[in-house]
Amino acid sequence: MRLPDAELPSEEKSYAAPETHPSRVWLERILHDENDVEAWMGLAAAYEGMASEWQSWVSTQTHYLDPVADALARIGSIERAVEIGPGTGEATRLVATRARLVAAVDSSPAMMSRAPVLPNVRWLVGDARSLPIESGWADLVVGLNAVPSFQEINRVCAPAGRVLWANSFGPDTPLYVEPARFVGLLGPEWAGVARRVGFGEWCIAERRQS
Ligand SMILES: C[S@@+](CC[C@H](N)C(=O)[O-])C[C@H]1O[C@@H](n2cnc3c(N)ncnc32)[C@H](O)[C@@H]1O
Repeated sequence: MRLPDAELPSEEKSYAAPETHPSRVWLERILHDENDVEAWMGLAAAYEGMASEWQSWVSTQTHYLDPVADALARIGSIERAVEIGPGTGEATRLVATRARLVAAVDSSPAMMSRAPVLPNVRWLVGDARSLPIESGWADLVVGLNAVPSFQEINRVCAPAGRVLWANSFGPDTPLYVEPARFVGLLGPEWAGVARRVGFGEWCIAERRQS
């Protein structure tokens, strides 16, 4: 796992204690037990309630998409991507410039009703725990500030596919999974690289060659 020094913008940013954020509390429960239904439901309900303000809040966040843009530049062009938890689709716009087809799956109809219409993106209301995607379909599985089901990521990612997991605020991101932990939770056959960009970071993982 490679994590070079931070490339922080010169602006200041202040944060509340992220470990007490309700989303972080739900996330930690999910990371300890992917079958914790109450945690999954709590998290999904919380974001559904934020849908009306989400886009305007994101528009005030500088460097929000920098980690995704930086990682996608390394990944290059691909055929099929799945994005988990796209919300109102800010990162999806970038993914759609690299992938021929994107399936963007979010549990919140209210979030996705605000997403842009893009010719190569299919917006699917669905659950990260049971993605409406064929096994092995995705050359790339993407999540920005999203909640992972490691079982489902393993199922939908093609054998030679990659996973891009990014956050906008590093450890201060409410839905934060530290890159080495993320790769470990994917499973022992996975290896990853990570990099800090803007206020956030990305991690790209792929299965080791046997
Ligand atoms: C923190 S927001 C991130 C949205 C977007 N990726 C961004 O960075 O602006 C988390 C997203 O995950 C979605 N979400 C929460 N639980 C989910 C689940 N079980 N399955 C799919 N999406 C879920 C929420 O509706 C929300 O859109």
